[in-house]
Amino acid sequence: MNTSDWLRSFEATSAAALAWAPAETPTLDDLEKVRLRFLGRSGELTELLKNLKHLPLEDRRQFGPRAQSLKARISEFLERRRLDLECAQDLSTERSGVDVTLPAPPSGRGRLHPLTSMVSEMTEALTLMGYTLAEGPQVETDWYNFEALNIPAQHPARDAHDTFYLKDLPLLLRTHTSPVQARTMKSTAPPLKIVCPGRVFRRDAVDASHSAVFYQMEGLVVDRGVTFADLKGTLEVFMQTLLGSATRIRFRPSYFPFTEPSAQVDVNCLLCGGRGCPACKQSGWIEMLGAGVVNPNVFRLVGLDPATWSGFAFGIGVERLAMMKYRIPDIRLFYENDLRFLRQFDEDIV
Ligand code: PHE
Repeated sequence: MNTSDWLRSFEATSAAALAWAPAETPTLDDLEKVRLRFLGRSGELTELLKNLKHLPLEDRRQFGPRAQSLKARISEFLERRRLDLECAQDLSTERSGVDVTLPAPPSGRGRLHPLTSMVSEMTEALTLMGYTLAEGPQVETDWYNFEALNIPAQHPARDAHDTFYLKDLPLLLRTHTSPVQARTMKSTAPPLKIVCPGRVFRRDAVDASHSAVFYQMEGLVVDRGVTFADLKGTLEVFMQTLLGSATRIRFRPSYFPFTEPSAQVDVNCLLCGGRGCPACKQSGWIEMLGAGVVNPNVFRLVGLDPATWSGFAFGIGVERLAMMKYRIPDIRLFYENDLRFLRQFDEDIV
């Protein structure tokens, strides 16, 4: 045998061995056949190694090590596959009743609740404008929920808040996120720009648009020289970030004890494009936020000088916004935990 014959058959063997894939040998018997083919007593590689001795010394020196290293590689592949197969066999159905070689069943991937996603989206829209996150307790004192917001006892505005009071304790479940305004102004020196999302509670009869537990998000800015125009610009950008750049807002005079002047802010109805539909009661507008300029009395109550500081605040219902954005007809859907509903928000709201 001359060198070129030897080389040709070495290359062929080498190519065949390297092309072998573990999956081609599903059983130990199959694996043994592969071993015999290459490394058996008269296997391809065994023959090649034997035939080396017919080559000139020079060529033997050059090709001998290559043939040896191919042998080592094949042995290693075979050994690894043998261990895998033996291991699988040990654990296979016959011995343990569990076939660990079967692929695992797909596990359900968790996802965010649509309200959680909506809150993050809203928070992000404001943090991008420089707001920082502030939070307050859901169980609140009368002072923070009402008094500090210029709603003293007997004030008629209290009637609008159907409040849950704790039994035997001077505490209540907050009826809005506005107490976080008072808490933050008391604890942190202005200038302030905060966003406070959270759960609020009202003794409302539950129906398609009312829930006794719902989410609000509060915004508060306190600085020198803040005006109503700043509020308008902020809310326009905020609503356009959330609902699209074609969104229009309008302000209607309103009343809140903690802001003066106060406004109800409407957004053009996305469901009918402003032409009028049952959702917007044919008006083309949907009420979305309460807002206004911080009442000087509130500054006094939290210990800030209204001659120095000015500000604006707004509060928005999270469900209301999500319902409009995703055309959800009933608020109760958020709280029933029906997976058929929740699964629709996989990638849509994130
Ligand atoms: N707290 C008010 C409500 O729950 C909303 C609001 C917040 C109004 C901030 C003005 C300023 O209705």
